[in-house]
Amino acid sequence: MKFFLDTANIHEIRDAAEYGLIDGVTTNPSLISKEGGDFKEMLREITRIVNGPISAEVLSTEAAGMLEEAYDLAKIHKNIVIKIPMIKEGMKALKQLSADGIPTNVTLVFNCNQALVAAKLGASFVSPFVGRLDDISEVGMKLVEEIVQIYDNYEFDTQVLVASCRNPLHIREAALLGADVATMPYKVLEQLLRHPLTDIGLERFLKDWEKVKKQ
Ligand code: E4P
Repeated sequence: MKFFLDTANIHEIRDAAEYGLIDGVTTNPSLISKEGGDFKEMLREITRIVNGPISAEVLSTEAAGMLEEAYDLAKIHKNIVIKIPMIKEGMKALKQLSADGIPTNVTLVFNCNQALVAAKLGASFVSPFVGRLDDISEVGMKLVEEIVQIYDNYEFDTQVLVASCRNPLHIREAALLGADVATMPYKVLEQLLRHPLTDIGLERFLKDWEKVKKQ
């Protein structure tokens, strides 16, 4: 399963890239607005750090406007993936971008019929938002399970990108379900590495080794 970092923070991206664990980055308008600065310059900087798909979202709500933004963003780097909201106009834009061979990520997906539509129109990635479903007492991972099954049934090439991951359990379940990608905040990436028994065990080994050195 690929790991994408869900942030527009350059320091976090740089730091996580040092682990060699980051296969791509997802951004959204909220994450971009948190950082401030020029959107396109920010994307350019990310492409210099991470060699993998980098999602950049369009802001227009009409197909023509989305396409204009998409062509402009796609010029930044070959790794830019155009993030399109799962709305009717978005699907018109998606069809055109698929025909143009521009990679896409259909975002704000909350049911499997939306995911089916996105795949039929040639989306490269589809982003079910598991955390936001959990927030309203629906089981986000159930949706991932169904999308993985549907894409498998019909051999769609669209990759399932589990988004809105809020904790390490989301990553574990995404991997068990065979999702292609999980995008996660920096904090969750760090949590994946930790276990209290690892820390206790290491501390004990080092302490015992001190005794060996004294002999
Ligand atoms: C990523 O593509 C999504 O925009 C992001 O994961 C949403 O996460 P949130 O629901 O925590 O805002």
